[in-house]
Amino acid sequence: MSFGTAMSRQLLRCSSAATLGAPRSMSSWWRHVEPAPKDPILGVAEAFLADPSPNKVNVGVGAYRDDNGKPVVLECVREAERRIAGNMNMEYLPMGGSLKMVEETLKLAYGENSNLIKDKRIAAVQSLSGTGACRLFADFQKRFSPDSQIYIPVPTWANHHNIWRDAHIPQRTFHYYHPESRGLNFPAMMDDIKNAPNGSFFLLHACAHNPTGVDPSEEQWREISYQFKVKGHFAFFDMAYQGFASGDPERDAKSIRIFLEDGHLIGCAQSYAKNMGLYGQRVGCLSVVCEDEKQAVAVKSQLQQLARPMYSSPPVHGAVIVSIILSDPDLKKLWLKEVKGMADRIIGMRTALRENLEKLGSPLSWEHITKQIGMFCYSGLTPEQVDRLTSEYHIYLTRNGRISMAGVTTGNVGYLANAIHEVTKSAQ
Ligand code: LMR
Repeated sequence: MSFGTAMSRQLLRCSSAATLGAPRSMSSWWRHVEPAPKDPILGVAEAFLADPSPNKVNVGVGAYRDDNGKPVVLECVREAERRIAGNMNMEYLPMGGSLKMVEETLKLAYGENSNLIKDKRIAAVQSLSGTGACRLFADFQKRFSPDSQIYIPVPTWANHHNIWRDAHIPQRTFHYYHPESRGLNFPAMMDDIKNAPNGSFFLLHACAHNPTGVDPSEEQWREISYQFKVKGHFAFFDMAYQGFASGDPERDAKSIRIFLEDGHLIGCAQSYAKNMGLYGQRVGCLSVVCEDEKQAVAVKSQLQQLARPMYSSPPVHGAVIVSIILSDPDLKKLWLKEVKGMADRIIGMRTALRENLEKLGSPLSWEHITKQIGMFCYSGLTPEQVDRLTSEYHIYLTRNGRISMAGVTTGNVGYLANAIHEVTKSAQ
């Protein structure tokens, strides 16, 4: 050991003792850390796994299951995997991710023949699925519009609040759901849009709103877009369920296309978790429409710079799967068929759940089960009724009464309907 090193150690010991008091015991560093509250969605999945009951039903997390309640790997994904097997290197992707994947993904949101794509006006990077896209955007918003806020619908996906909170963006809310009609509170929503300060940021669900399953009609989207124009608001679309609302990804992008027709410069988060079943692959895309190519180059470079200290570059495997599927016309056709198959099974289960409840003689209205769309049914069950479903019937769902219709099967729909009927009897 050199004299210099020994000297510095000595000095450090003296200065710690003199200025910082007695040295901390090794075990005291994290004594103040309390356990984090359970995640309202993923916590339900954990509780389900821990339940040994053979009758247990998981309609909590939004993850698609087949009619036997089993996770699904799409046939197009299996085929892409076969093509990859043994042929892929494990090199880093660039900071912005796979160019091919991003190119194909933009076509899904903005349209195959989009002029914005042709004119290179979209800054886009591969993201860690939809959550990562939202978070990257929130960080971008904080860095380049530091005094802005975000308007979030009531209710919304619980994680939206965490994302913008951790990006230190103040949150405001706007009316969305109307509990009495179990539909959209359009007048109150429009009032909130009009009353927000000019140039506000709004988070919109492009389709299959999570958790309510309630979307504006095409006409209503036009009015919303018009009002955004009048107020100069910025629309950030979270499109986590493209294809799950109607069974057709093109139709499900209608809200975005309406905003583009009106010339809005939007932001958009896309995810392949649901519509390609690539949940654990964490593959998605963040895009920001810019005024011109020069601006898009600058914005993309900043998005990459935000990504670099967080995760450096995104994972490669899922991106290759998506690129293979979307750039091969036959595989893309197969994917579209499989998305429709998933959406149709869910629609079938909506009908079955409603019919079962009606057959049991429930005098309550269950019309909303078939009126709402996408992966979720916002049942109207109270937190207490949800607690009874879980404790007495081993049925797991979030306490806001959201039922993931993707977990309903011909095998469990009768059991589920009966349990819902029993716990809602006192309200009948
Ligand atoms: C959900 O809403 O259940 C899904 O988006 C899964 C998640 O990460 O919360």
